[in-house]
Amino acid sequence: LSISPFIAKLPKVELHIHIEGTLTPELRWELAHRNNISLSYATFEDLKASYAVTLNHRPELNGRQPGIPTFLEAYFAGCEVLRTENDFYDLAMSYLSRCATMNVRYTEPFFDIQAHTRRGVPAEAVLNGYLRAQQDSAKSLGVHSRWILCFLRDEPVELGLQAYTEARPWAAGTVEGGKGLLHAVGLASNAYERPPMLFEEGFSVARKDGLHVTMHCDFGQKDTHAHMAEAIFHVCDGQGAERIDHGLDAEDREELWTGLVERNIGLTLCPHAYHRRTATDVLFPKIRRLWEKGVKFCINSDDPTLMHDVWIDGNMQKVYTYGGFSEGDMIQLVRNAVDMCWADDEIKTAIH
Ligand code: ADE
Ligand code: ZN
Repeated sequence: LSISPFIAKLPKVELHIHIEGTLTPELRWELAHRNNISLSYATFEDLKASYAVTLNHRPELNGRQPGIPTFLEAYFAGCEVLRTENDFYDLAMSYLSRCATMNVRYTEPFFDIQAHTRRGVPAEAVLNGYLRAQQDSAKSLGVHSRWILCFLRDEPVELGLQAYTEARPWAAGTVEGGKGLLHAVGLASNAYERPPMLFEEGFSVARKDGLHVTMHCDFGQKDTHAHMAEAIFHVCDGQGAERIDHGLDAEDREELWTGLVERNIGLTLCPHAYHRRTATDVLFPKIRRLWEKGVKFCINSDDPTLMHDVWIDGNMQKVYTYGGFSEGDMIQLVRNAVDMCWADDEIKTAIH
């Protein structure tokens, strides 16, 4: 599917992108050499080919096939080459430079600090690398960003709290002396039997610091409707999350989609992530029905390098081509992202 000039030119805002899911095979190869790490691929072509095949991270859906990693195994394996502040800077600048070419004016990337500190990487290498990229890309590319620390939901809650404490000096100005990188917390990784309410203390600590709260409720996972109900009605002292990442399953149940509408909770959808495993004539009518029900959502890419190199422009093109969305609807989808984002008024005015 090629990107039309209309979609290419449309100014964009991205609210659901995992920075580690933007690591290209090219940069991974380069960083492996820079850091003297031997990859299990003999050639660059072998490494590149490995990106085409991953299993759903619900093994019960497709069985385990020896030698083929699940999606999340492939994602965390890629992180191995990221070691120094410069590596994290290069990763972030690579994505932010691509934003400039796609006309993405503002972005709120997720980062998984626990994926790095548990390998012995110092938290400040990760945070200073991203902070420097945040500042440089705003200045040199006009691409502004505010970053979201994800708790790894398949790790103990205490490790997430510890990661947050370490990252706190890099938080928004609502934290005294905060350096302005981190503006929200999220919840990612494997949701299997890890409902959002387990992380209530983490959300509460961040909220007390004046940060925002979002959480993944991925499409078609086990217990996804129950997780959605927690995210809409129970977390954050019953106020609900401010946004939900994915959340497409809400369309199935009236109490969920009316809850989203009434509480003005927007969804960050990533159509290609679902299209990889869902038929076109099932997926896009579902997205359209959610739109017609008045649920607010925006369009994003999730983990583009691990998802066939489909970036935000490719995701928007899919909705435009397959979903029956007009040019006016596409513009409204970008307005939704502006409305849902956590930029300050100055940045919002600049990107409008
Ligand atoms: N973390 C990074 N990518 C993810 C995905 N697609 N699902 C759940 N957690 C993630
Ligand atoms: Zn995601």
